[in-house]
Amino acid sequence: ALPQRVKIIEVGPRDGLQNERHNIPISVRIALIEQLADAGLPVVEAGAFVSPLWVPQMSASGEVLSGIQRKAGVSYPVLVPNLRGLEAARAAGAEEIAVFGAASERFSQKNINCSIDQSLTRFATVVTAARQQGIRARGYVSCVLGCPYEGEVAPQTVVRVAAELYAMGCYEISLGDTIGVGTPLKALRMLEAVAREVPLACLAAHFHDTYGQALANLFAVLQLGLTNIDSAVAGLGGCPYAPGASGNVATEDVVYLLNGLGIATGVDLERLAATGRWICQRLGRRPGSKVARALAGR
Ligand code: HMG
Ligand code: MG
Repeated sequence: ALPQRVKIIEVGPRDGLQNERHNIPISVRIALIEQLADAGLPVVEAGAFVSPLWVPQMSASGEVLSGIQRKAGVSYPVLVPNLRGLEAARAAGAEEIAVFGAASERFSQKNINCSIDQSLTRFATVVTAARQQGIRARGYVSCVLGCPYEGEVAPQTVVRVAAELYAMGCYEISLGDTIGVGTPLKALRMLEAVAREVPLACLAAHFHDTYGQALANLFAVLQLGLTNIDSAVAGLGGCPYAPGASGNVATEDVVYLLNGLGIATGVDLERLAATGRWICQRLGRRPGSKVARALAGR
């Protein structure tokens, strides 16, 4: 059955901006996060404490995180790959982090320069240290429906990585179709398999829209009762280590879909679309959200 309410995790300021060619001023990154929170998004991913050699666009995430005017009831998670990232995130006042693994060996090597097992050992240390400091941890699994380097990914690997992240103390596991190759039945089967090991309420769908299937995939997993969806305003996004992948499913499109299904989100679609138009203007690109374009054309 469809859920009554869905929590949207806005990843535009991180997944969206990490793939932009130009460096975005800190003030723009801060304004984007604040506008998204003002539009009613309960979770706004604010940056990544990763190596600036690997992802230069996310450098200065500390200044971004400590610069935002935080809104009560909103969380601002940041990506952290290791203890060094955790320390920098904590120093900038992070109350929530996300570790990010993969269900594909080659993607793991390309993205974080270690094997899946090495990453899980490292993440367990990071998550334990975070929780001792009162910092909540979320976990990502990338390549859940396909890998840019290996092609097909075995669902059992997705289940194993998700279950380990959950067991080490991640409160929510986000399942990433990093390259956006999934289709609805495949997405549904994958989620069913993971939900046998991790409670459905602790799972999130993180779908990219490369092949235009993200909304259809979301509708499929919503029917299983999934209540957490990652998306990016204006459909920004992509991973620098997933060549050819397009942006995340657009938050505007997800909100329009959920509104039509009578599922509550607490998000003000008009304000969100205005934020999407504003950031696209700053980035010199056209909004990737069809809903945003339709609303602008009325
Ligand atoms: P490494 O080279 O194996 O690590 O990289 P290292 O420990 O040898 O360090 C290399 C250099 O980075 C050193 O600098 C370190 O000091 C520095 P040097 O001494 O040579 O000048 N360094 C750091 N600097 C700042 N913050 C840190 C940090 N750690 C080391 N935390 C590492 C390993 C994990 C660091 C690197 O591979 C990395 O940063 N990877 C991040 C890649 C990334 O951010 N990818 C995008 C996010 S994942 C994604 O988009 C998918 C997702 O959206 C879900 C989906 O769609 O599926 C989440
Ligand atoms: Mg992503």
